[in-house]
Amino acid sequence: MFTDLVSEEAEAVQANQFLLVNNGEGVVIDPGGNMTYNELSLTMRKYIAPSRLDYVIASHADPDIIASLDRWMSSTPAKLVISSLWARFAPHFCKLGKTDDRIVSVPDQGGRLKFGQTELWLLPAHFMHSEGNFHFYDPISKILFTGDLGVSLVHGAEAASPLDSLNPMPAGMVPFHQRYMVSNKILKLWLRMVRSLEISMLVPQHGSPLRGPAIGEFFNWLDKLACGVDLMGPEHYQLPQNRI
Ligand SMILES: [Fe+2]
Ligand SMILES: [Fe+2]
Repeated sequence: MFTDLVSEEAEAVQANQFLLVNNGEGVVIDPGGNMTYNELSLTMRKYIAPSRLDYVIASHADPDIIASLDRWMSSTPAKLVISSLWARFAPHFCKLGKTDDRIVSVPDQGGRLKFGQTELWLLPAHFMHSEGNFHFYDPISKILFTGDLGVSLVHGAEAASPLDSLNPMPAGMVPFHQRYMVSNKILKLWLRMVRSLEISMLVPQHGSPLRGPAIGEFFNWLDKLACGVDLMGPEHYQLPQNRI
């Protein structure tokens, strides 16, 4: 896990990137944009040669997830793994032809992606927040990588230290989920699926990982959370009068 590649001076949200290596082959999850590329590709070489990178895996198609795609396509043989909803949009991040035959388009129901001697599970997480969205479960470490779910807005050492409790709630977690998650119905459907998994750690793309009791506390909080369209009303759709 890389937690500190976005400078605190940058007017950009902190973001975590992930490298998984098994039997000499690797995948990167949510590598980020141009701010993280140089440092990530250099540090990655300590663990794996760029030529052994099988996949760049994107939970969704946001700039902080995959805006560096052109550089990964140029410097490694990796294929991009992304929702079928975004498979034809992602090439817009790249120069013409760079992604030809190099996109694995994941159907809505997800699947298991083989690399090395293992499989990474691609779990449906649609509308959390993106319409075509996946989370990733590593059956060896039992870590669930949850992209923009479980996010807190913290920087530096705080982002690198796992939380054992959500009391107090970490900075930014409540307003982030209220606005970015689409609805409580979606949260409940997702909870039904993941409660059957054994999870050692839940690791979001921004902020601190959750472990131990914090995971159950987080699930119980989501189960009751009104968010997204649950909170929208006519007052949010008025013709604007203000200047910006
Ligand atoms: Fe996002
Ligand atoms: Fe994000």
